[in-house]
Amino acid sequence: MRHLMRPLDFSVEELDKLFTLAEDIEKNPEKYAHACEGKKLATCFYEPSTRTRLSFEAAMLNLGGNVLGFSDANSSSAAKGESVSDTIRVISCFADICAIRHPKEGAPMVAASHSSIPVINAGDGGHQHPTQTLTDLLTIRAIKGRLGNFTIGLCGDLKFGRTVHSLINALVRYEQIQFVFISPEELTVPDYIIEMLRENNIPFREVRKLEDIMPELDILYMTRVQKERFFNEEDYVRLKDYYILDREKMNDAKPDMIVLHPLPRVNEISVEIDNDPRAVYFRQVQYGVYVRMALLLTLLEIEGKEKENV
Ligand code: CP
Repeated sequence: MRHLMRPLDFSVEELDKLFTLAEDIEKNPEKYAHACEGKKLATCFYEPSTRTRLSFEAAMLNLGGNVLGFSDANSSSAAKGESVSDTIRVISCFADICAIRHPKEGAPMVAASHSSIPVINAGDGGHQHPTQTLTDLLTIRAIKGRLGNFTIGLCGDLKFGRTVHSLINALVRYEQIQFVFISPEELTVPDYIIEMLRENNIPFREVRKLEDIMPELDILYMTRVQKERFFNEEDYVRLKDYYILDREKMNDAKPDMIVLHPLPRVNEISVEIDNDPRAVYFRQVQYGVYVRMALLLTLLEIEGKEKENV
């Protein structure tokens, strides 16, 4: 039995296979429409979500399976003090696989260590968000045609942004990637990531101004300044509109540069660029469904059997 806690839990070769499966699902959805019949996915979300929870649920429904779960810790027995380890033992009696989001770093790992079904980390505090990373990688591969040989700018809250931490971790395994970290002083990439990049001789720069770097980027990964991670409202108010990607800045970007965002967006991307063909963040959401379908098939070990039946 296999869990997904971090993007590095899958080798580059395994990720390639997963993305190829996701691309086949996109092209031939009917081939997979009954692949998970009789299977149940539990979504245990202790933190708010729109995309991750609903795309997991859509993924399982698209595969012919069923879903159950909770979307708010207060409507679960966590509100009565039940531990994550007890909850997952109980969920293991109801479902075949579980996606869990929790505000505490490491909570999905605790769940996995007490589970008799595969557990997927659907985001833990400011730590990791591996299925967002799978979504990001599939989007880059599908639109740019490669995973490597590009300059990527990551902009916004790079300190607490778990999607950023997971994506950097995943990208260092590909060739010829240069990172540009664009953040205010208070929200820079954590030291452990900087050390990891230095140890692996991965080129990176840290800058403050987005407009200075726009012409160099092949990919711009925008992120939200996350109100829920701040202890102090005053700091949040000061930093929340630090970066706003607008038409003027897009005018300086390469014609084939793409803009990704894990969403939700607040003010950091002006709606005036939503129709720019380089703004691909809503297409990215759709890729999230395909890659989660591929992940469910892989962790449930259905993928091979499905191919045999075709
Ligand atoms: N990208 C992402 O994790 O979005 P949600 O918080 O809506 O799930």
